[in-house]
Amino acid sequence: MITKIIGTGSSQGRRRVSNQDLEQVVETSDEWIHSRTGISSRYVTEGEGIKAMAAEAAEKACIQAGISPKEVELILVATSTPECCFPSTACQVQGEIGAEGAAAFDISAACSGFIFALHTANSFLVSGTYKTALVIGADELSKLVDWNDRRTCVLFGDGAGAVVVRAEDDGKFFSAVGSDGSRGEILTCVSRSGGNFITKKQPKMGFIAMDGQEVFKFAVKKVPSCIEEMLKEHQEKPEDIRYYLLHQANERIIAAVAKRLGEPAEKFPMNISAYGNTSAASIPILLDELNREGKLNRGDKIVMAGFGGGLTWGSALLEW
Ligand code: UT7
Repeated sequence: MITKIIGTGSSQGRRRVSNQDLEQVVETSDEWIHSRTGISSRYVTEGEGIKAMAAEAAEKACIQAGISPKEVELILVATSTPECCFPSTACQVQGEIGAEGAAAFDISAACSGFIFALHTANSFLVSGTYKTALVIGADELSKLVDWNDRRTCVLFGDGAGAVVVRAEDDGKFFSAVGSDGSRGEILTCVSRSGGNFITKKQPKMGFIAMDGQEVFKFAVKKVPSCIEEMLKEHQEKPEDIRYYLLHQANERIIAAVAKRLGEPAEKFPMNISAYGNTSAASIPILLDELNREGKLNRGDKIVMAGFGGGLTWGSALLEW
């Protein structure tokens, strides 16, 4: 069996926040943010939360796939920002959309999460365990950034992207993921810490902390090498790939990856300008936009690649 994407959907936080809006919050400028990252605005939630965004993206993907949520057998949500430890966001989505027959669980692999979730769903589909799955990348990083820290708060946005995948008889799907836990300290967010039985201290929430330049260097090396390895392993030529959909963290990272692969910039669509870095949601939101704009044709070969905290990275190659 071969994994095929048969529907896509996405949603974003309700409030649009421009770089000019952020100039009122921290000492920054539209010029700095745009020239260093490519970001002009982002969307943040206004209380609707991750459950609503993920469920909306999932419902749109099911409608486009022409299936009822009742046909979904597996729901995977890649997220670093669940509302609760339990129930998982995947179980919350299941309840919201009425996918009664599905098994549902979350996957934590930061900004690479969508690729990890797709890789996991693929294993279930090719093994014959399930035929139809919903794979969602959803993050609400606005609740984890320190709104006084200009080095991080200008970078992120909230959103969700979903795909329905189905086991089919023909097509092409390969994926690979990797991790390096020894370098985890360059991008961290301690979820809750300090709670202690002896001192009776209550736990405190942590914020996102990042060594931006180290993450940048990691991304511009790791992303092209994992794409090249995957293409080589499956005897695909870079020039035969229609689109490279990369995690939208920084326009300069995407340009550097295109250069290293020797591929033209037009093959690397971007929407970071409007959304900022939406973490696990960035790749499926971009895929959904291309799909709804009619830019994907049957048989197009598409590469997706992500990287992020963990450290983690992953890539997928599929035929549309
Ligand atoms: O999806 C998760 C993965 N994350 C990433 O992929 C992020 C990868 N890294 C990056 O995208 C870039 O490293 C950043 C956009 C985060 C930072 O860009 P940079 O060119 O590496 O800037 P920098 O950190 O070297 O900072 C340069 C200067 C510093 O000032 P000094 O020390 O030179 O005086 C910063 O304090 O820019 C300052 N700065 C800012 N100035 C205005 C940092 N943030 C801001 C800001 N506004 N928002």
